[in-house]
Amino acid sequence: MRLGVNIDHVATVRNARRTFEPDPVYAAILAQMAGAHQITLHVREDRRHVNEDDLRKIIETVHIPVNLEMAPTEEMRNIALTYHPNRVTLVPERREEITTEGGLDVVSHKEYLKEFIKPFKEAGIEVSLFIDPDLEQIKASVWVEADAVELHTGTYAEAWNSFDREGVERELAKLRAAAKFAKSLGLRVYAGHGLTYHNVKPITQIEDIEELNIGHSIVANAVLLGFERAVKDMLKLLK
Ligand code: PXP
Repeated sequence: MRLGVNIDHVATVRNARRTFEPDPVYAAILAQMAGAHQITLHVREDRRHVNEDDLRKIIETVHIPVNLEMAPTEEMRNIALTYHPNRVTLVPERREEITTEGGLDVVSHKEYLKEFIKPFKEAGIEVSLFIDPDLEQIKASVWVEADAVELHTGTYAEAWNSFDREGVERELAKLRAAAKFAKSLGLRVYAGHGLTYHNVKPITQIEDIEELNIGHSIVANAVLLGFERAVKDMLKLLK
């Protein structure tokens, strides 16, 4: 199972102070050194965390694939075609949401997405669609000629976080069936959203899923695991 590390929230901390640290490029390098298989980042319309400058620097710096999550808009397509990540993952985006709230509705936007995707294919950029584990969305993803789908694990994660055992089993069954179906139709299958150190294990056991993209939980743990060392280093300077 490959791991894509999403470094967006390193930039969220940086942007809270409109300063230069922590630098998401450093985080990308450390993730690579730790063995991550991919760096994932989401340039949002409002640039609330990473921006195109971070994207450019990360692409120039790391030697593992870069996966750009983006809304299917003209502006974002121009950015992607300029900087050329290895993959784009198309996600729905509403300005007021805290994080990506649901999968892309491929079924309702089939014609638009088929046209939207073409230039990426011509440029040799892999196209993945972030969708709910729904068989109709998978069929539509094949129709628009996507290379891959990333299955939204957010509902599963919410069920886990609220100790809803039935919900966890129901969502796992949906993810298993969706992964199998997507793979049988020739799509590569990834998954992500809301995965943590506590809830990731059952997802790793779905054999048709070849990669997970995980961000918030890794950044959250990095802050806490590094806190003691950071305080000690500052104390040394105060002596
Ligand atoms: N995959 C996609 C498509 C996403 O939009 C996100 C969040 O940016 C993630 C994975 C990572 O989610 P999380 O930060 O909850 O691990």
